[in-house]
Formats: sequence, C-alpha cells, structure tokens
Amino acid sequence: MTSFTLNGKAMTVDVDADTPLLWVIREQAGLTGTKFGCGVGMCGACTVHIDGKAARSCLTPINAAEGKTIVTIEGLDPKGEHPVQKAWQEIQVPQCGYCQSGQIMQAAAVLKDNPNITDADIDAQMTANLCRCMTYTRIRAAVRQAANAMKGG
Ligand code: FES
Ligand code: FES
Repeated sequence: MTSFTLNGKAMTVDVDADTPLLWVIREQAGLTGTKFGCGVGMCGACTVHIDGKAARSCLTPINAAEGKTIVTIEGLDPKGEHPVQKAWQEIQVPQCGYCQSGQIMQAAAVLKDNPNITDADIDAQMTANLCRCMTYTRIRAAVRQAANAMKGG
C-alpha cells in the first residue's frame, strides 16, 4: 500500500512498489492530463509536481510517492487560472497539445523557484521538455508573460 496526497485529496493504492506514478495517476486516479511520451525520462510529457518540485512521473516508482504531495495539471489551480495557464491561453501556445501539460507543470515549478527568470534561465530549465510541434518560441513568450504576471506586472 502507498499513501499520498493527489491534488489535495488523500489517496492509497495497492499496486506493485515499482509501478510508475504515471500509471497510478492515469489508471487508478483516472487523471489523463498527464501524458505518456517516452517512458524513460527524456521528454517531460509526464511532468507533475512532487512536494512542489517538477518530477518525471514515468520514472517515479509509486513507493517513492509515500507521504508526498503530488499535483497534476488538473490540480494546478482549481479554476485552471494559474498565471502559467492564463499565459498559455493568451499566447495560444499549444499546437497538438500532447506535450503541453508537462510544459505547463515544468514552467509553474520553475517560476515558483525563480520568478525573476531570464531568457537564458527559460532555455536552460525548459529545454528538457520536448515539443514535436516546435512551439518553443511561444513557450518562451508565455513563460516570460507568466513571470511578469506573478510579479504583479
Ligand atoms: S514520458 Fe516521462 S519523460 Fe517522457
Ligand atoms: S504541442 Fe504538439 S508536441 Fe507540443
């Protein structure tokens, strides 16, 4: 048994200890906003927050989630109005959309730690979240806009 908090609700699952957190999120919790891309930590489509830090849920065994606070794209903001989500909508970042929940979760974690983010920081900290539709220019603009909003600009 593994117990943790998922989007503010207590959850206990009875699965093998090495079951990826991503499967538990998608199959046990039924939250399909977090995507499977590569399954080996290389694309970022599965990014969630674990105790406030961005983490690859495909590489996180469920036993590592014991006692942790996990947030997925569905739990980032109760109304979907986190500054990063608003910037993504205003700039119309997504193309196919597949990578975008991971991009948003990565950006939200990065900005929480560093609201005074520079373009170089954005490039460095978003680079491991891949987008096959090449929305990188809009991602950078949206991260910049969200950073300004979070600073009250
Ligand atoms: S699915 Fe987890 S990093 Fe690609
Ligand atoms: S929007 Fe299609 S993979 Fe990023």
